[in-house]
Amino acid sequence: MKAIEIRNKYLSFFERHGHKIIPSSSLIPENDPSVLFTTAGMQPLIPYLLGGKHPEGKRLTDYQKCVRTVDIEDVGDNRHLTFFEMLGNWSLGDYFKEESIQMSYDFLTKELNIPVEKISVTCFAGDEDAPRDEVSAKCWEKAGIPKERIYFFGKENNWWIAGNEGPCGPDTEMFYDTGKPACGPNCDPSCDCGKYVEIWNNVFMEFFKHPDGTYTKLEQKNVDTGLGLERMTMLLQGKETPYEIELFSPVMDRLKELTRVDNINSRRIVAEHLRSSMMIICDGGRPSNIERGYILRRLIRRMTRHLRKLEINLDEIGNLVDIYVETLKDMYPELLVNKNTIKDVLIEEKNKFVKTLENGEREFKKAVEKAKREGKNKIDGQTVFNLYETYGFPQEITVELAKEQGMEVELEQFDKLFKEHQEKSRLGSEQKFKGGLAEQNEKTIAYHTATHLLHKALKLVLGDHVAQKGSNITTERLRFDFSHPQKVTPEELKKVEDIVNEQIQRDLPVVCEEMSLEEAKKSGAIGLFENKYGEKVKVYTIGDFSKEICGGPHVEHTAQLGKFKIKKEEASSSGVRRIKAVLE
Ligand code: SER
Repeated sequence: MKAIEIRNKYLSFFERHGHKIIPSSSLIPENDPSVLFTTAGMQPLIPYLLGGKHPEGKRLTDYQKCVRTVDIEDVGDNRHLTFFEMLGNWSLGDYFKEESIQMSYDFLTKELNIPVEKISVTCFAGDEDAPRDEVSAKCWEKAGIPKERIYFFGKENNWWIAGNEGPCGPDTEMFYDTGKPACGPNCDPSCDCGKYVEIWNNVFMEFFKHPDGTYTKLEQKNVDTGLGLERMTMLLQGKETPYEIELFSPVMDRLKELTRVDNINSRRIVAEHLRSSMMIICDGGRPSNIERGYILRRLIRRMTRHLRKLEINLDEIGNLVDIYVETLKDMYPELLVNKNTIKDVLIEEKNKFVKTLENGEREFKKAVEKAKREGKNKIDGQTVFNLYETYGFPQEITVELAKEQGMEVELEQFDKLFKEHQEKSRLGSEQKFKGGLAEQNEKTIAYHTATHLLHKALKLVLGDHVAQKGSNITTERLRFDFSHPQKVTPEELKKVEDIVNEQIQRDLPVVCEEMSLEEAKKSGAIGLFENKYGEKVKVYTIGDFSKEICGGPHVEHTAQLGKFKIKKEEASSSGVRRIKAVLE
């Protein structure tokens, strides 16, 4: 089944079930400066989920163009897309769990003809904010999903909210079993080994989350569902990646014809970023150095870089746009109308980037000459990083050019700088994704302090090689990434947990002092020292236990934290582990 047929089936199924079909909103949110792009079908509907009267009634369905850019650097693998289409249906205070689940079941098994054996579902396990969702589980059983394929998980998996504040609720998610072997005895739909692929998410929005982390009931019980079209199409066609479905294949095939370089990742990146850029430009986005314009710029630059990597003439961009317009015009007729503008914007931006690359090449030559003068045959990591940051020079290009000069590149230092930079921009875009609502409140402040205790405890238990690689805090949990070569054992985790709780019980004072970086280093403070030269830094000391450079804020004494519990330990990337923990 083709994507457009799935979309049409979906809309007409829900139309038959009393829903009004509404048009997709623009990718560029209207009247919502807090988010860069429309990231979900519910976003334009927020006022109605909160009780406003929608002119089309209480049952709505649509397809929504979405862009999510948190994972931009992951595009090129076999599943991440920055632009995708989300099919959705909504009940604005009308039907609730039973009818929603029955309709989803019928659509999957009767309209798309997915064998019921291939479907597993997950429901909310319950906590202090909302009860275990036995109702949804019962509805699934009644519809035809056997008990053993109904799973329960906590907020991490089965609670949906756009950002940190707003309408939200427990969700029930549907998973497609690809038939791949289980990765282990504990493999289930929460596992990301690839056996189970999430296909649909029904959110039962009856709560509102406030900035202080508390929940209240909404005036009405809503249903908000989202089904990713490209992913569903891929699964129904038995394909391994979305790039093999008809929305991408004409461009993927053309790229293959145009290149002699065998690099599937680069071809995917070009195909994906070109489609996203076209859709964003079509809805009025333009490249710039800030916010959504910068995301668009990054997409176009990354695409251009990979075209070069494939040794494809950049003048082909116009033809590739033509192929996409032809491929997608039935789904997005607006592409036809805006075709010339799309080409103009892409080509102008490409030209600018080519200039930048040329400037970068000049800078590179200077760096080589300098190194040679100093009798070195290595280009230092800081230079490689500057070339990347200022001139958009990817590390591979610098390495390649260096090789031609018989030189090496100091990659370790570059990697370090690059990872820090990535973490910063990832945090930046995550915060933006959260709608600028990344607030400081009692809970996030407590998690912040707990992160310091965890960092130190990990060093004590695992060794001094442990260094922070990333941190992300919400009002629900902390997430901490750190360098460590292997899995942390349950015994080690228990030790870490005990040490943190011990420090909490000791009710240690948390004290902040300002000092120069040199003084901070001398005092034995841990933390990120880079990019802070010459600045005064804040050092937070927690009793005799921890000393860390940090911007704060923190609690005043550790007994304010409550009980610390590690929920999950997993790999984050090579040599980096990730811990998720909560304060209870
Ligand atoms: N809003 C939910 C999601 O994005 C369901 O549509 O997954």
